[in-house]
Amino acid sequence: MSKELIRLSQCTMAFDGEVVLNSIDLVINDKEFLTLLGPSGCGKTTTLRIIGGFATPTSGDVFFDGVRINDLPPYKRTVNTVFQKYALFPHLNVFENVAFGLRINRHGGKKLSKAEITQRVMEMLEIVSLKGFENRDVTSLSGGQQQRVAIARALVNRPKVLLLDEPLGALDMRLRKDMQNELKRIHEAMGITFIYVTHDQEEALAMSDTVVVMDGGVIQQIGTPEAIYNEPVNAFVADFIGESNIVDGIMIADGVVEIFGRRFKCLDGGFAPNEPVDVVIRPEDVDIVDVKDGMLTGTVTNITFKGVHYDVIVDFKGFKWLIQTTDFCPVNSYIGIKIDPDGIHIMKKSAYSGMFGDYSSYSAEYDEIGDADYEPEEPDIEEAPYEA
Ligand SMILES: Nc1ncnc2c1ncn2[C@@H]1O[C@H](COP(=O)(O)OP(=O)(O)OP(=O)(O)O)[C@@H](O)[C@H]1O
Ligand SMILES: [Mg+2]
Repeated sequence: MSKELIRLSQCTMAFDGEVVLNSIDLVINDKEFLTLLGPSGCGKTTTLRIIGGFATPTSGDVFFDGVRINDLPPYKRTVNTVFQKYALFPHLNVFENVAFGLRINRHGGKKLSKAEITQRVMEMLEIVSLKGFENRDVTSLSGGQQQRVAIARALVNRPKVLLLDEPLGALDMRLRKDMQNELKRIHEAMGITFIYVTHDQEEALAMSDTVVVMDGGVIQQIGTPEAIYNEPVNAFVADFIGESNIVDGIMIADGVVEIFGRRFKCLDGGFAPNEPVDVVIRPEDVDIVDVKDGMLTGTVTNITFKGVHYDVIVDFKGFKWLIQTTDFCPVNSYIGIKIDPDGIHIMKKSAYSGMFGDYSSYSAEYDEIGDADYEPEEPDIEEAPYEA
């Protein structure tokens, strides 16, 4: 898994002078399941198109197996793509949809025999769990089955790399989950490299060896799902991956951070003395305790049952945190919280500081309930003069 297969080196893409990919450096290893994750418009499809050869970067280089391939057309790359709209041929049955790529492509200069085509197609249908479906009309298949035909069609030519651009976007939640497992299984069965695009962070964490988080045409972080979740590099990544409370802090010394004027033990270090930092606290890492035992105290403003846990919104002097707990805490109750040192993650300040990580808008009954000693500066909406 550690052998380099594809390398993007300082790849920039601009359309009419507008930069949509900004000097991307990315190494993709052989047999890896790598996911490009980020919000709409961040440059995921553009990156995929550069790898597939459908777009040439404005500047920078693309290498495959150490060879520069900037000018190699898509059909000469051992790469195949599954798109979100997988466009099967409606007039062909399952078998013929999969066989299509084999019939049009020459393999080493010669056409495959009928027997070879049948063998390869049946092999693929077996891998995507569609054995017995070969004579079915593709229009009679469910969404998930159609998607598997599209994957079989892309894999039947035995590419070294499969590019998947939001392939599960059209499927409902349940089917998406099933297909995620299916794709992981297919990836293992084929033993090739998968480069997967999604804006769904849960999907990225569940499926990938490596996650590449992008925003604004820039790679924000590359890492394993665990590293991206536990050690986000900035407020954007922390917010995009899972739920996060992100607050201003001051790094007093290695292992000591000040939040809301209180000092907390943490495990991070290497910052300048008194350096302002962003502090991430995940909702599941906060324990609710008695007020007298609390490191901080606040008032519950909202509680929502989520099945496994409750989502509790707690107001700390106007800053609202999300806490996930199995204990019921009634609205208006005054509580204490405790956070273990490993539940506190420190990040450098960045362009994203202050933009994320406050749950004020989560709570329906905004600002009506505060700390006993907390006076809202703004008058209540009801009391404000009304202008027609
Ligand atoms: N051919 C093009 N001409 C002009 N602008 C383009 C072109 N292709 C992409 N862009 C712009 O580049 C940016 C990145 O587009 P891209 O399709 O890579 O985003 P994405 O991350 O795949 O988003 P989504 O999740 O919505 O699919 C967008 O602002 C898009 O409008
Ligand atoms: Mg896209």
